[in-house]
Amino acid sequence: MSNMHVGIIMDGNGRWARTQRKPRWRGHLAGVESVRDIVRAAPDLGIATLTLYAFSSDNWKRPQAEVGRLFWLLREYCARERAELLENGVRVTGIGRRDRIPRSALNELERTECATSGNDRLNLRLAIDYSSQWEIARASRDLAHRVEQGTLAAEEISTDLLTKALSGGVPPVDLLVRTAGEQRISDFMLWEMAYAELYFTTVLWPDFRRADLTRALADFRRRERRFGGLPAHAAPPPALVPDARAV
Ligand code: IPE
Ligand code: IPE
Ligand code: MG
Repeated sequence: MSNMHVGIIMDGNGRWARTQRKPRWRGHLAGVESVRDIVRAAPDLGIATLTLYAFSSDNWKRPQAEVGRLFWLLREYCARERAELLENGVRVTGIGRRDRIPRSALNELERTECATSGNDRLNLRLAIDYSSQWEIARASRDLAHRVEQGTLAAEEISTDLLTKALSGGVPPVDLLVRTAGEQRISDFMLWEMAYAELYFTTVLWPDFRRADLTRALADFRRRERRFGGLPAHAAPPPALVPDARAV
């Protein structure tokens, strides 16, 4: 599969910092190196869409100083990486709420989105102030407005339409990777992951590199995705209706 959508919950920066006896933000700083490495590697590994969970809407609960550092890093990443992203054919799009992101970080993100909008080698989606439940509510609200305005009939609301309203038709997630050992989804792409394969590793995000992603993809390729059907090599099912002569 060479047009995969991979989602990554980049977790474990704080724990990494603790192992180094450094403050938490140093873990976030080190995590940016992993982002750089993974974004470079992704197209070579057959990934067409990469969604990185950078800041969840629940991360606002963290101390203001840590939140400030995270948005500073976002701003720096966008500003410093823009030229290379552009050169490597990466298109950057932010997903999530925009109304609460600090202005300076939002400006850099928007500049990067604009500069890279013509690229198509890798669709890099950065989930920032992101909550999947909030996105589903927003998409539902958008469709409800269209019904109110009379441009959409309630009966026309289908899974396809909701998918479009949610993510503009980005393909569903094939593989979800979460680093640092936690085995949960933390409000990430709930709708888009209906049939995603889940891969959990204890590697902390700042230690996660191309070789780790390659390992995750090798594991993914060994899995059999059935989407509710039968394995491709399954024997034909026995006849449901018993042979009349045998009864
Ligand atoms: C992930 O690392 C980065 C963000 C959530 C922004 P954490 O900061 O959650 O690291 P741990 O889970 O405390 O180790
Ligand atoms: C999920 O990690 C969010 C990001 C990686 C941005 P958290 O560390 O915030 O998630 P929980 O609290 O362990 O579920
Ligand atoms: Mg965490």
